[in-house]
Amino acid sequence: MTAFDDYLDTFAGDPGYLNWAAFGPLSPGVRAEAFADADLLASMRPASHALVFDRAAQAREVIAGMLGADVDEVTVQPSSTHGLAHALYGLQGAVIASSAEFPSVSITLERAVQTAQGGISARWIAPGDGRVTPDAVSEALDDEVTALVVSHVDFRTGYRADLAALRELIGPDRLLIVDAVQSFGIVDEDFSAADVVAGHGYKWLRAGRGSGFARYSAFARERIRPVLSGVAGTTSEGLPVDALPPAAASARAFTVSAPDHLAAARLTVGAAEVRDAGVARIEERISAHVDEILEIADRHGIPVSSPREPARRAGIVALAPAELGRLAAALANADVSVTARGDTVRLAPHAGTGSETIRMLDDALSGFGNETFIGA
Ligand SMILES: Cc1ncc(COP(=O)(O)O)c(C=O)c1O
Repeated sequence: MTAFDDYLDTFAGDPGYLNWAAFGPLSPGVRAEAFADADLLASMRPASHALVFDRAAQAREVIAGMLGADVDEVTVQPSSTHGLAHALYGLQGAVIASSAEFPSVSITLERAVQTAQGGISARWIAPGDGRVTPDAVSEALDDEVTALVVSHVDFRTGYRADLAALRELIGPDRLLIVDAVQSFGIVDEDFSAADVVAGHGYKWLRAGRGSGFARYSAFARERIRPVLSGVAGTTSEGLPVDALPPAAASARAFTVSAPDHLAAARLTVGAAEVRDAGVARIEERISAHVDEILEIADRHGIPVSSPREPARRAGIVALAPAELGRLAAALANADVSVTARGDTVRLAPHAGTGSETIRMLDDALSGFGNETFIGA
């Protein structure tokens, strides 16, 4: 048994779950850690509490290792949106973003613009297919642009942005801010192309909510003012009472209050599990499942709107059927869990998705096709 086989074995449970891009049911290791650490916090022994209070530092270490970053550059956050907010509120100048981004990007940027009263402006782009390609960005690029914020993998189209190409396009003097929620832990990416990377543990890392994190490079810390910095983000190592110390030089500046230790414990375990299994192997296995799903969709004549090239996709397949409501109902009736929103049905397999789940999908789509035929 390899570490990867052990990892796959942790996906036991009812078949039919294809909604990892929305929520990842907790891994057994994460679940056990949550109970064990809750017990430690429930004791009256300070030494037991101290073990749990150390989890945020451990989470930062694991995440930093996976990002190839210094641990001082990494923070734990209540959510990925918090991590993005620290970056976006502290910017100056024009910021390019797609108006079709997940609202953690679009709403946060819009609020930052409103709050900055002229210091920040949004340069919205609206590529027809929703894909933030270098061509789409280059049309909006001019001397006023100081940053680009983009989802590495788009929550809706499943498109995987080419971070290296985007970095090359914007050059070294602008910030590349990346929402890695739909890729961290499942795409073997060199995130060093980005200055800010924000993610969380509640989908692909199977670590539950509250497990956000963000990395701010030295260049990011030079350019981004820590305007949302709080009591946890100062130069003071302890509680800064009767004093008003400045924000820390490290990424800690981009934190507000003490971390949620139980969430950090879950993040540590969830991230370490994908690291130990091997992100490249996880990516490969997910890609094989995506190929299976594409083959099934094609065989049933259901249009696919997400990218097909492996380099431009990750774990999301978007189906765009003519009768979305009926397809969503067919999947729900067959106990296949997906996200139906707008005009697409989003399917998201994980590495541990089993053949029974794929078969359930195939069967559900067979029924859907026949009904269409009979009804016509
Ligand atoms: C691309 C993307 N960014 C951000 C989020 C929200 O993250 P959080 O709840 O950690 O703020 C999601 C959630 O679905 C997402 O898909």
